[in-house]
Amino acid sequence: MRIRAQKGLTFDDVLLVPKRSPVASRRDVDTSTCLTGKVRLHIPILSANMDTVTEAAMAIAMAQAGGLGVIHRFMSVEQQVRQVRKVKRAQGFMVENPYTVVAEAPIDDARQIMEQHGVGGLIVIDGANRLVGMITRRDLLLAPPGVLTVREAMTPAERVVSVGPSVSSEQARALLYEHRVEKLPVVDKGGTVIGLITSRDVAKSDPHSHASVDDKGRLRVGAAIGVNHGELDRTEALLEAGVDVLVLDIAHGHADHCVAMVKSLRRHFPDAQIVAGNVATREGARELAEAGADAIKVGIGPGSICTTRIVTGFGVPQLTAIMDAAAGLAEAGLEVPIIADGGIKSSGDMVKALAAGADTVMIGSLFAGCEEAPGAPVIRDGRKVKVVRGMASLGAAMGRRATEKGMDESAEDQEDWDKVVPEGVEAVVPYRGHVAEILYQLVGGLRSGLSYGGACTIKDLQRNAEFIEITAAGVRESGSHDVRKL
Ligand code: XMP
Repeated sequence: MRIRAQKGLTFDDVLLVPKRSPVASRRDVDTSTCLTGKVRLHIPILSANMDTVTEAAMAIAMAQAGGLGVIHRFMSVEQQVRQVRKVKRAQGFMVENPYTVVAEAPIDDARQIMEQHGVGGLIVIDGANRLVGMITRRDLLLAPPGVLTVREAMTPAERVVSVGPSVSSEQARALLYEHRVEKLPVVDKGGTVIGLITSRDVAKSDPHSHASVDDKGRLRVGAAIGVNHGELDRTEALLEAGVDVLVLDIAHGHADHCVAMVKSLRRHFPDAQIVAGNVATREGARELAEAGADAIKVGIGPGSICTTRIVTGFGVPQLTAIMDAAAGLAEAGLEVPIIADGGIKSSGDMVKALAAGADTVMIGSLFAGCEEAPGAPVIRDGRKVKVVRGMASLGAAMGRRATEKGMDESAEDQEDWDKVVPEGVEAVVPYRGHVAEILYQLVGGLRSGLSYGGACTIKDLQRNAEFIEITAAGVRESGSHDVRKL
């Protein structure tokens, strides 16, 4: 047994000391950062892989604002793949694997596919996936009673304007306009359908936007995976659906099975971007990076809904955990980005996390009250609120088991819930409107923070950072005080 000769500090224990600044305007700073070696983001913010925080709607809004959402893993592989596909289809001037129907199908099949996926048109193909025609909602609406099959109602291929795979967004825009059509099927030299370009997507693809997009202009998205048997199949399905980043998310990531899983993922999917965690020490960060992780997630117990530290007695205050992880990687000469996960209550906390060595931050509760978070708002004591729950809370455990069994959460169950040892709580947070508004405030605070730090970039901020430990009086002085808030 030993006691470390080191004080564990967290965000409220310190302030950053202002530095002489070359920044004249907050507009002149650069908030971009690396999530992994290959994925850059315009803003250093991720939404947490929690079932009350990130599904497709949140991930879309996060990527549109220049950050990234990580879809949680407490759903079936099929459901998670569907969530990823929703994000990948939300934007991007070319949709891969567009919805299709075969020419001989009854027109009711076409109607059903359109309704199921909420699209206004389908590409008609033959058995070899070659373009045969196009059918739209309008064709179905106007088809006389005698028209029974898709082939009879569709516009045949000879009259469909199609393009090759190398078409640019500007060429597609010109063709859509010239021919006054809504959609352009993308076909290869042999006539095989490989994609679809829609006028809506082309109109939305703004080259000056700061959205997080892949090389096809589609929004970027992350998805969480676990270490259990079957997770390699989940990974394969997620990659197939176009996921940009996989987040191997284990409560205690500095563990043999997590290191082994990172190695296994690296071996099976050499090109995948893999985030691994969570850890809170030099050794934890270094070992996951050496195993092949492309970014390390740091945080044991700092989260607003976490009770790990109370239940187990383990954890490292978050600022120290970030500094230690960064030192561990630097000592080993590993340039692997760090994600500071949990405990961010304000833009100031985010600036401190970045200054301490994180490249991005992951946020849960602060986003759980947003419109885009899963679940509807409810009224509690006359105020509009939303529910947030720790992924190791009793409610989340019950929800997971109910989903696995395909039963209602509230239904009577044989399970002995007294045997569950939760490490998280369920709570409510104020309804906060759209996440874009919160992100605007967070990024505004970061821009201002960079200017106080004499920094044009996040890397400058880290180089210049000098923390000062403060007392309880300093903490009190830091908030608004001795006034009655309106
Ligand atoms: P914030 O403070 O942003 O933290 O809400 C979000 C992070 O908290 C972690 N998390 C948990 N940790 N028990 C824990 O000890 C839990 O039940 C739990 N649920 C989420 C997770 O890392 C998340 O990103």
